[in-house]
Amino acid sequence: MNANRIPLLAANWKQNQLWEDCEQFVSELKDMCPGYFNQDEDPAVDIVLCPPSVYVSLVGNLLDTAHVYLGAQNTGQFPPGAYTGESSAEMLSDIGCDFCIVGHSERRALFGETDEIVTAKLEQLLANDIVPILCVGESLEMRKEGRAESLVLRQLDAVRDVVAKFDPGEIVFAYEPIWAIGTGENAEPEDAQKMTFCIRDWLLRNISEDSAQASLLLYGGSVKPANILDYMAMEDVDGALIGGASLQAASFGEMVNKCKQARLG
Ligand code: PGA
Repeated sequence: MNANRIPLLAANWKQNQLWEDCEQFVSELKDMCPGYFNQDEDPAVDIVLCPPSVYVSLVGNLLDTAHVYLGAQNTGQFPPGAYTGESSAEMLSDIGCDFCIVGHSERRALFGETDEIVTAKLEQLLANDIVPILCVGESLEMRKEGRAESLVLRQLDAVRDVVAKFDPGEIVFAYEPIWAIGTGENAEPEDAQKMTFCIRDWLLRNISEDSAQASLLLYGGSVKPANILDYMAMEDVDGALIGGASLQAASFGEMVNKCKQARLG
């Protein structure tokens, strides 16, 4: 955590939560973190909820004027047109989406998303003023072979031209080692630091100093209330992308409050 960047905690609900659960979550979050629902308070830590696509708009209505950002988990890669089953970035923007996850390892592995598709989605999001949360990260095999850094750099090189086209700080990067996602097995905070530093250094070398300074870099992979502050203590970790532990408002709210306290001292 660095005093010059406002931390971001992103809840990735994946394909979980029915409407009743979404309503309950927002109502409980309001009790746990009232400052976000009170326009007068500076929240100190930003938060974004990324519900399943069918509920994004409805959750947006529930959040109303709260200082809680709305996010999607996926976007179509093409501009509007004949693409049955897809929703465009323009549509996400139309319903008030602020953020969208792109390049998540589950989409890369289970839905065949190549670097080209990730690049096209990234471009669509940026063109529609939605902040992408771009996920990168290595498999266990690659880590064991000492190829974690080179894989992440390759994933970044693949999107370099699109990243360079937009203003500094408009993209959030999430380092998510695949072996730590949903497994309860965490990366060491020092590993998260090493890899986020590697992303910041890539931004410095390939984009600009402003971009390196302004961009938010998240860690994701089995983050929970018991370990979040260990990651936030790292200089280049500006927040977290949280799956399992973001499904309950009690646990997500606890992480938000812990980070707020840590930031405000
Ligand atoms: P997890 O998921 O927190 O359940 O490990 C993180 C993610 O996939 O974004």
